[in-house]
Amino acid sequence: MPNQFALDLSKIREDARKHLNKGPVTSANTSDLRRLIDVLNEVVATEMVCYLRYTQNAIVAQGINREQVAALFREHADEELDHFKRVSDRINQLGGTPDLDPATLVARSHTEYEAPAENDLQEMIRENFVAERIAVETYTEIVRWIGDSDPTSRRLMEDLLKEEEDHADELSDLYEPKS
Ligand SMILES: [Fe+2]
Ligand SMILES: [Fe+2]
Repeated sequence: MPNQFALDLSKIREDARKHLNKGPVTSANTSDLRRLIDVLNEVVATEMVCYLRYTQNAIVAQGINREQVAALFREHADEELDHFKRVSDRINQLGGTPDLDPATLVARSHTEYEAPAENDLQEMIRENFVAERIAVETYTEIVRWIGDSDPTSRRLMEDLLKEEEDHADELSDLYEPKS
């Protein structure tokens, strides 16, 4: 049997008019909206913790390669801040409230805030590398979980996932494992 395409247009038109309070969200969005908003708020927290870690590390980095590494950290920090804003915007579009409360950021974040005591470059590279790998794994799971239920949120998470993989790859090039 071919997969036949059919739309109940009279019902769709009626619903479009009836539920204007839902903004862009229609019944075609089959996600568990409340859970999705909570999960996206975990991503918001993760992005902010990563932004703060990269920014701190870029400022205090020491060592012979400090300029090159600090520049990479600053570039990643800018991208994490952009992710943070994009996911916050999506939560708002879905009718939720982006939770930017600093008091609960760390508990909601998938990644940890590590600021190496010695400001050692390799230690910073390793900890940011670990954080990126955590984000890659959790964002992949989120993409799979969203599936077809909300294509726009899935695409947003796919875009972030690709950039986290790029971050992990760039850090992997700089990482020197201790022998
Ligand atoms: Fe990010
Ligand atoms: Fe990242």
